[in-house]
Parts: sequence; C-alpha cells; structure tokens
Amino acid sequence: GIIATMTEQRKEYLFKVLVIGELGVGKTSVIKRYVHQIFSQHYRATIGVDFALKVVHWDGETLIRLQLWDIAGQERFGNMTRVYYREAVGAFIVFDATRASTFEAVNKWKNDLDNKVTLPDGRNIPTVLLGNKIDQMRGGLLSNKQQMDNYCDEKGFVAWFETSAKANINIDEAAKYLIDKILDNERSYSRNLPDPEALELNKDDDEKSGCCR
Ligand code: GTP
Ligand code: MG
Repeated sequence: GIIATMTEQRKEYLFKVLVIGELGVGKTSVIKRYVHQIFSQHYRATIGVDFALKVVHWDGETLIRLQLWDIAGQERFGNMTRVYYREAVGAFIVFDATRASTFEAVNKWKNDLDNKVTLPDGRNIPTVLLGNKIDQMRGGLLSNKQQMDNYCDEKGFVAWFETSAKANINIDEAAKYLIDKILDNERSYSRNLPDPEALELNKDDDEKSGCCR
C-alpha cells in the first residue's frame, strides 16, 4: 500500500568491502584518505584487520554504509582470512605502482579472494584493481593502458585505477565505480525476489483453504 511505496523511495544499504594486497602498498592510507581525508607518511603495519565506516549519500533516495575491511598484507597466509572475507560484496586489490613485486602478487590475491568468497548466486564479487602511489611515478607506471585493460579482462577485475592516497588521486572515483557495481548486483537480486504483495495474497489464500504448508 501507500506505506510500502513511501519506504521504497528511501533505500539504505550496508556493504562489506574488502581491501587487500601486499604489505605496505597503501591499503590503510587509501581508506584513511577516502574516509577521513587524511594522509600520513608514517608507516604502521596493520595487524590482523581494521575497520572503517564510510557513509555515502549516493543519491536522494539511497544511503550506503560502506564497511571497509582493512586486511593486513602480512596476514596473507593466515587461516583467518576466510572468516574475514565472508559476506563481502565487493573488494579492492591494491598494489604499489613503484614496486613490480606487489603487482606480481595481485594474481595470488585475486585467486585467494575468488576461492574464499562469492555472491549468493555464485558469481565472483566485483573487484577493482588499484595501482597506488602514482604520485611517485614519473609519467605513470601504468603507461601501457591497453595492457592493463587486457589484464583486468583476463583476471576478472571490473576496472583498474591509478591512485594516490597522498595526492588524493582517483580514490573517490574508484569507490564510486565499485559501489555502482555492487548496487547493480543488489538490484538484480531484489528483482528475482517474489513480490511481497503477491506473498501476502498467497498467505490469505492458504489460510482460507486451511493449507498448512
Ligand atoms: P599493511 O597494513 O602492512 O599491509 O600496509 P598497507 O597496505 O596498509 O600500507 P599503508 O597504508 O600503511 O602505507 C605504507 C606506506 O606507504 C606508508 O608510509 C604510507 O605513508 C605510504 N603510502 C601509502 N599510500 C601512498 C601514496 O599514495 N603515495 C605515497 N607517496 N606514499 C604512500
Ligand atoms: Mg595497513
């Protein structure tokens, strides 16, 4: 009825998003920039997992609470990770654009992610690749854009961005892109759910006919 219609106009979501990648690539820094608009040169390794919450006023009707799981790079082989990944609906995999070894490790992180978490319908969760610390690159490492596009297609990333937590480059854009993908998935589930009004009707029918299903 009218109440259902009114509540439908305002939607609130809570999304769990993972931030993973090698030690020291800037995961915590990217999150701090995105959530608190701050940056520190000082490196303090994350132990286990940290959390941050970003409230996004997506549009007039949609409020999103993004729960960011900042997972320590050095915990890569820990048995805890499966628990950390549970019920995530999106992820960032971060590498350090100045250190090739951290890009080479991206594949391992992606496989680990895909093996440990999927959407309720079995698909991989949307994952965005971030080449961070781009402020330290002259001309930009990811000079071969076509190669990066191909890499992302091949490995199943929804997109890649060159970022800098220090210079505040592309972090909001990358987050927007991921949220958009997550919302697409969310909406496709709700389309597949039965219409609540139809359920009500069925319930009445069942009661009348004395069915106890
Ligand atoms: P772990 O928690 O150990 O896995 O590391 P992390 O991925 O969270 O890295 P963190 O954010 O702690 O950053 C590591 C170091 O890189 C710190 O000294 C940061 O200041 C620096 N750093 C992070 N992002 C950037 C960036 O965009 N540009 C530059 N120049 N330095 C950065
Ligand atoms: Mg960290």
